[in-house]
Amino acid sequence: MPVITCIEDLKRLHRRRTPRMFYDYAESGSWTEQTFRDNSTDFEKIRLRQRVAVDMAGRSTAGTMIGQDVAMPVALAPVGMTGMQRADGEIKAARAAEKFGVPFTLSTMSICSIEDVAAHTEKPFWFQVYTLKDDDFMKRLFARAKAANCSALVITVDLQVMGQRHKDIKNGLSAPPKLTLASMLDLATKIGWGLEMLGTRRRFFGNIVGHARGVSDPSSLSTWIAEAFDPSLDWDRIREFRSWWDGPVILKGILDAEDARRAAEVGADAIVVSNHGGRQLDGALSSIRVLPSILDAVGDRIEVHLDSGIRTGQDVLKALAMGAKATYVGRAFVNGLGAMGEAGVTRALEVIHRELDTSMALCGERDVADLGRHNLLVPRDFEGDWA
Ligand SMILES: Cc1cc2nc3c(=O)[nH]c(=O)nc-3n(C[C@H](O)[C@H](O)[C@H](O)COP(=O)(O)O)c2cc1C
Repeated sequence: MPVITCIEDLKRLHRRRTPRMFYDYAESGSWTEQTFRDNSTDFEKIRLRQRVAVDMAGRSTAGTMIGQDVAMPVALAPVGMTGMQRADGEIKAARAAEKFGVPFTLSTMSICSIEDVAAHTEKPFWFQVYTLKDDDFMKRLFARAKAANCSALVITVDLQVMGQRHKDIKNGLSAPPKLTLASMLDLATKIGWGLEMLGTRRRFFGNIVGHARGVSDPSSLSTWIAEAFDPSLDWDRIREFRSWWDGPVILKGILDAEDARRAAEVGADAIVVSNHGGRQLDGALSSIRVLPSILDAVGDRIEVHLDSGIRTGQDVLKALAMGAKATYVGRAFVNGLGAMGEAGVTRALEVIHRELDTSMALCGERDVADLGRHNLLVPRDFEGDWA
């Protein structure tokens, strides 16, 4: 068993054990990757204020997200094709999350279907919705999420069209991988991955293949998005979706104060301040940088969550202290999954939890709910003076 002390260790193993096209799919941003990089470097600009001689006994990282109890305010973000990083990947990640006591969000573009994940887990999970043009499919998708007892819907609003990731085109990303000379040479060095994959029947987009129509290549993510996704998604449609679902709704992909106000108006329970992990609009600001302006705009009217760039418990601490109610991790848990399957996702959550808990103590706090700007040293020009 390798010694894992940080997410970076899991990332190295993920790279070694997973076919290149899927590792690259996870570790890329769109176009020049400026926003992808900023998501990390902007977290680094914020520093923590050390306090001493404070009673640090009896600490707690527990809290709530949309009224549901969480062991720490860190959910697993929806990640497409997770079941290609490792066989049955969504089931493994969902199990690790439920044992740890944090929410798991299943992507519309998952390999394991909603029904599959429900059959292999005990607790309700969250379901992420992408909007396809096929209205019957959308109605059935909501009904399937309800039948699977999903306890929240996460509607992603920042991907009607896809930001280009160069490596995915060069690698010919697909599920399952198409056998070319390059992919076969790569697969020959990933024997463990291949043997596990041979042992499962879950190798296609489980929520959509056989359920939605009208794509020329059902194995290609970019073809699904280009041909079946609805580019006309607008606030009226989001309001309509809100009325279809009687449980909590989270709108994911908000990066602008005006859009945050609209999200509150259409009746969302929470928003995720997110730039999709730097995978959509290259040149957009990092999530942590826009967070203050969004909090100013919506205040207490709606729960404000954040993702994009979180790799450590210190990043979680910074986001919470800046005012986010909760956070999500994408690549950090995928690195764990690609490295060591379910145990790797658990390890990723343990690493982040320990970093959060210890750093909180060293900041002189005992409860995540008490974190605030008083714990941070934020550069005066952090938000930027943009015209
Ligand atoms: C490989 C990959 C696939 C993703 N697929 C989806 C998806 O299917 N639906 C979605 O709403 N967001 C998706 N995202 C975005 C994540 O939900 C989340 O916003 C992002 O990963 C957060 O950034 P981080 O990876 O730096 O933590 C994906 C992200 C990655 C890295």
